[in-house]
Amino acid sequence: MNLIIAIDGPAAAGKGTLARRLAAHFGLPHLDTGLLYRATGRRVLDAGGAPADPLVAEAAARALTAADLARDDLRGPAADAAATQVAAVPGVRAALLEFQRSFGGGRGAVLDGRDIGTVVFPAAAAKLFVTASVAARGRRRWLELTARGEAADLAEVIEQVRRRDAQDRSRAAAPLVPAADALLLDTTTLDAAATFTRALELLGTRVNA
Ligand code: C5P
Repeated sequence: MNLIIAIDGPAAAGKGTLARRLAAHFGLPHLDTGLLYRATGRRVLDAGGAPADPLVAEAAARALTAADLARDDLRGPAADAAATQVAAVPGVRAALLEFQRSFGGGRGAVLDGRDIGTVVFPAAAAKLFVTASVAARGRRRWLELTARGEAADLAEVIEQVRRRDAQDRSRAAAPLVPAADALLLDTTTLDAAATFTRALELLGTRVNA
């Protein structure tokens, strides 16, 4: 059986942690598709280019290597902003599509991102749209940054999350929107364990959990 679990939602909603747990539970590989956009943005920044420049951004996406995805500088405000800018370029999205599809094409996979259930695997049987209030998501992102020893202002981090979501929702290419058949999961008051339990309950209707 080729089981694809598509997990979409805004920044810091808990998609990554949930995706890793579901992948372990179902014995499937996991792809954090945000890394593809982060690595593309990082390549553009390294070359001194502008992430919003379509030609430069698409060339960076087409040149991605496994080593780019393994870099340890793909998180943080500059990488966040660059990822969101390259992600609005249609040529970047087209360049990254085949890799995502082939990743899930074998025995199945869990993929998390913004457009997995709408564009990458529109026929996936199991789709979750994971959300939380912007205050809760900003606080989680702020905790991640401070845990890494980075100085961060909570209000500023909440504002950055809000801005990134607005860009992802309003872009013309594959905007962030729940698939019509996605199961909605609000994690505002849930920790990682409760989120996983709730996800399994929801998926039970679609998957042999
Ligand atoms: O999920 P993450 O925060 O790492 O994603 C970084 C950025 O990459 C997002 O803000 C979004 O612009 C873009 N992205 C996307 N489509 C995906 C995954 C990420 O547009 N499937």
